[in-house]
Parts: sequence; C-alpha cells; structure tokens
Amino acid sequence: MDLGLENRTVLVTGAGQGIGRAIALAFAREKARVAVNDVSAERAEAVAGEIVGTGAEALACPADITRYEAVQDMVRVVLERFPTIDVLVNNAGVGDQGKLFLDQRPSDWERVLGIGLMGAIHCNHAVAEYMVAQGRGKIISIASDAGRVGEPRMTVYSASKAGIIGHSKALAKELGPRGITVNVVSPGATETETTLARRKDRERAMGEEKARDLLQKMLKAYPLRRFALPEEIADMVVLVASRAADYMTGQVISVSGGYCTA
Ligand SMILES: NC(=O)c1ccc[n+]([C@@H]2O[C@H](COP(=O)([O-])OP(=O)(O)OC[C@H]3O[C@@H](n4cnc5c(N)ncnc54)[C@H](O)[C@@H]3O)[C@@H](O)[C@H]2O)c1
Repeated sequence: MDLGLENRTVLVTGAGQGIGRAIALAFAREKARVAVNDVSAERAEAVAGEIVGTGAEALACPADITRYEAVQDMVRVVLERFPTIDVLVNNAGVGDQGKLFLDQRPSDWERVLGIGLMGAIHCNHAVAEYMVAQGRGKIISIASDAGRVGEPRMTVYSASKAGIIGHSKALAKELGPRGITVNVVSPGATETETTLARRKDRERAMGEEKARDLLQKMLKAYPLRRFALPEEIADMVVLVASRAADYMTGQVISVSGGYCTA
C-alpha cells in the first residue's frame, strides 16, 4: 500500500533519541522529508545525519519547545528549507522521575507540564497557522496510557498526557473543517534510553533481584507480556499520518500491548 508520504514534510519534536528518533527514521523510510527537533542540537544533528545517510532528506532544527518564540523560529527555519509542513508529531515529553506527588516541588511539575503539555500546545499553535493556510495537515501527539488511567509516581505526567488528549480532541473539532486531522498515539511502557536508565537506577537502589521481581509484576499488567519497542510506536504514527487514516480525527490509539483496553 502506498502510504502517500513521499515528499511530505514531517516535523518531529524530541527526535534526538528514543521513540522520537524511531518516528523520524520511520518517516524517512517512507521518503518523507524530516525536520528533526530536539533541545539537544547534538542529538538532533546526529539523527538528521543518520537520515541523510539513508538517502532521505532531513534538517536538524534544535529548539527548546517550552519557549513559544523558539518554536516560532523553528517553524520559520523548517519552512525556509522545505515548502510545507504536512505532519507535526509532538513527541517530546518527560516523566516525574519516579517521585511521589508530595515529594515534588513547583520546578518538578513546571518541567513536566512545560515540555509535555505546553511544548505541544506551542507547536500546535505555531504549525496549525501554516496548515490552515495550506488547507491540510496532520497533527499527531504522543501521549501515554498513564494519561488515560492515571499512574502513581506519575501524577503530573498523567496530567500532562490527559491534557494533551483533551486538547487534541478539542482541536480536532476546531481544525477538522480546515482540512486538518488531530490524533493521539498512546504508548505503554516502551524500551527507550530513558526507561532503560530508570531500570538501572532501580536495580542500584533496590538490588537486582527485587528490581527483577518488580519488572515481572509490571509486565503482568500487559496482556502481551512485554514492553514495546520504539519502532512499534513509530509504525503506528506513520500509519496515522498516512492516507490510510485520512478520515480519522480526534482519536486516541493505544499501542500498549493491551495495557489500556478502553
Ligand atoms: N518510553 C516510554 O516508556 C513511554 C511510554 C509512554 C509514552 N512515552 C512518551 O513518548 C515520548 C518519547 O519518550 P522517550 O522515552 O522516547 O523519551 P526520551 O526521554 O528517550 O527522549 C525525549 C527526547 O526529547 C528531548 N527533549 C526534552 N526536552 C525537550 C525540549 N524542551 N524541547 C525539545 N526536545 C526536548 C530530549 O532531549 C530527548 O532527546 C514522550 O512524550 C513520552 O512521554 C514514552
């Protein structure tokens, strides 16, 4: 099936590693042009270089998406290089670092909401303006099943993801008549650099055996009994961006091994 993504421009935030990197590479395989955002210029350039090495087009566009002006500048830079922005993927997000809510301080929740929720709102606002002028576009945000069911030690993260789900559903209604679809892909636990580092931290803090038991307990909540690979999330994002999903908007799709069935 032709997914209709060749020569489309895709902007992916937080694409310097993990799920974002996998998303950027998956679009490049479909011959899309990829604008690779990350707050780390080094990571954004490395992934853009990786894509160019495959023969596809890519542009590193480092920016801190917590700053609206930086996002507007980034969108300008992308449009100086590429003729359109057809797909925006709001991927950048951070968690509560295992902290209980009462152990958190304003700087903790400002960071989580600033990147995961405000960052996505900044990008949606700056990019939607151009998509409306084009008369078409697709916005996909990466939430989390934590935002659907709520998770302890992820209280602010759950709020940021529930927030992006509500914002996306509302935006789908505003922008649908302008030819723009807005959907959410909601992963469960996924094997990325960040989750692997957290697992190592737990092993150090509680010992290998206890950490292994905890992992087994966590896996029991997943009917498929394994965590996702970043590529499995990326493939769904590509599908939602493709012509196969032209008539779908305002939806939340869990890619979580059955963790969240609602
Ligand atoms: N890994 C999981 O288990 C999991 C599960 C569900 C949902 N998610 C969501 O998927 C997305 C990606 O997760 P991941 O594990 O790959 O993340 P990650 O931490 O591995 O990578 C996130 C990237 O975002 C970048 N970033 C951070 N702040 C930024 C900012 N202000 N501006 C631009 N870029 C910034 C980081 O530099 C990093 O390269 C996140 O939204 C996360 O909440 C992840």
